[in-house]
Amino acid sequence: MKGLILAGGMGTRLRPLSHTGPKQLVPVGNKPVLFYGIEALRDAGIEEIGIIVGYTDERIQFLKDSCGDGSEFGVKITYIRQDAPRGLAHAVDIAKDFMDGEDFVVYLGDNILKSGIKDFVEDFKTNGSDISLLLSKHKTPEKFGVALFNEENEITYVEEKPEKPKTDYVITGIYLFRNNIFDAIKNVKPGKKGELQLTDAIKEFVLSEDKKVKATIVDGWWDDTGNAEDILRANHLVLMDLKENIKGEVEEDVKIIGGVEIGEGSVIKKGSKIKGPVIIGKNCVIEGYVGPYTSIGDNSKIKGGEIESSIIVGEVNINFNEKIVDSLIGKDVVINSSENNLPKGHRFILGEHSEVRI
Ligand code: TTP
Repeated sequence: MKGLILAGGMGTRLRPLSHTGPKQLVPVGNKPVLFYGIEALRDAGIEEIGIIVGYTDERIQFLKDSCGDGSEFGVKITYIRQDAPRGLAHAVDIAKDFMDGEDFVVYLGDNILKSGIKDFVEDFKTNGSDISLLLSKHKTPEKFGVALFNEENEITYVEEKPEKPKTDYVITGIYLFRNNIFDAIKNVKPGKKGELQLTDAIKEFVLSEDKKVKATIVDGWWDDTGNAEDILRANHLVLMDLKENIKGEVEEDVKIIGGVEIGEGSVIKKGSKIKGPVIIGKNCVIEGYVGPYTSIGDNSKIKGGEIESSIIVGEVNINFNEKIVDSLIGKDVVINSSENNLPKGHRFILGEHSEVRI
């Protein structure tokens, strides 16, 4: 079997972070979201992975620089360029030659799944279904494709983003297909936003008498990291299992509580408190309080104040005496206190689509 990770798309819901780079490279627990997908495919025994990339040269280069030829993960990666975000079915369709008749897994590049996909893939090899879908219950099914299934776990109904969902089981971003999916994609017509929906191709199988679409329910958690809130929740879930691993320097009079990981070359200054689960990358200098469910990327300097339940992508300079919570802070960001400056007040230099709550 082969794998296909979809890492094109616009990422509009994750602006401004997705202005400068692909959203699939935003780190969760200090690791790009996309890497979780590559590792899940590899751990299921898949050695050849196609990655759909699009659509600007800059974004594509970012992805290529991060994942390389796949050898660091123990897989072979082929990049397949999508000229514009024309929908998931279009992204799958352009990988037809790469699949070369084999069965394959489609994995949306912004999805994270705790339990991996090994059992799901193994089952597909012998279950005789045309398609297998991984389903999960969700509080807002209207934002996803939904599916109903019978006692034999056969899917009997699918609908994309229904106004009044008949079920709270949603189709996650992990699909198993055989080569006949390409015939169904040929019949898909553009949807509301002009995109070719994968759910429409799947519907053709669901409605056909002699085709079988199987449902498997996610074991453990699954997260689709489409917007900032989802990414922060994924960070929470990933950090939950963090174990203590301190490689950096911890000065005297520092309190470290719970699962805390500190990378090489990092220094936690005197008097600081780090309450896990917290992951701090390499070459950071931290002075202050860092609270639960926070990820801080490499080369960050943070002084004063408190940070909790946040993702700091890295290379930031924060010198601030107040509390930062539930925040997603990109690379090279500078946050300074204005305490000693006149006139008093908040000063902002923010890019397009930034969000501030004071
Ligand atoms: P989405 O999150 O549905 O779309 P998006 O990335 O454009 O985000 P937004 O809605 O915020 O603008 O895409 C799911 C995954 O599939 C994501 O990893 C991007 C990828 N994708 C493609 O590779 N090609 C496409 O044409 C589309 C629409 C998405």
